[in-house]
Amino acid sequence: MKSNKSVSRKNLFLLLLDGCLLAGFWLLNQVRLTGIVIHEWAGVALAFVLLLHVAMHWQWIANMFRKFLRVRNALQYFKLALDIFGFIAFFAIIISGILMSKSFLPALGLSGVHSRNLKMIHLMATNATIAMLVLHLLVNLKGIIRMMTRSRRLRSREKSASGNLPDGIDPAGLG
Ligand code: HEM
Ligand code: HEM
Repeated sequence: MKSNKSVSRKNLFLLLLDGCLLAGFWLLNQVRLTGIVIHEWAGVALAFVLLLHVAMHWQWIANMFRKFLRVRNALQYFKLALDIFGFIAFFAIIISGILMSKSFLPALGLSGVHSRNLKMIHLMATNATIAMLVLHLLVNLKGIIRMMTRSRRLRSREKSASGNLPDGIDPAGLG
């Protein structure tokens, strides 16, 4: 069984990663504030952060597919559908962005395409991802609160107590 310490560290890491994703996604919507160069490179970097986020939850996704016909919980199916939709929408933003890029592709010796359609896809995929994100955070709210309170409780226990803590809890519904 995992120790409380490693569960607490994993929770903190997941929360930090989620915070970076959320803040990064917000920043990428402020193109006028960042300028196009930061926008493009930060966008590509965020794609890797998202891949890490998905990798950290891979067990949950794999379990859902493995037990697909045996799961009798509509919310779980909804979460999975939302995750798939979000993943496609997110990478539609990245791919359309790269194709019309003014800094990223030129840095690789290639040139981006100037197309109104690509820009439209970029914007539509951004709006779809925002909608997914709101629902994604709502359906995971219970888990987020549980992870936050457990991390805080364990850290304050670590501060006051010395020696080993007993084996215990698992992170909020994570594999
Ligand atoms: C900006 C984008 C995103 C943000 C800010 C975000 C944030 C979060 C948060 C706060 C949680 C709950 C706490 C945790 O377990 O870490 C979570 C869980 C999860 N996220 Fe995301 N997420 C994003 C995009 C995505 C996308 C596109 C996918 C697609 C595969 C995804 C897949 C998952 C999975 C599988 C879980 C855990 C299982 C479940 O749905 O309960 N996330 N995410
Ligand atoms: C999650 C990631 C991203 C989000 C949320 C996002 C969002 C946006 C938004 C809201 C705009 C403003 C559109 C307008 O002027 O109304 C924009 C413009 C743009 N984005 Fe992104 N973007 C992302 C990633 C990327 C990436 C990775 C690239 C390229 C490598 C990119 C390239 C561009 C370009 C070139 C424009 C300017 C289009 C123009 O005005 O001609 N974006 N993006």
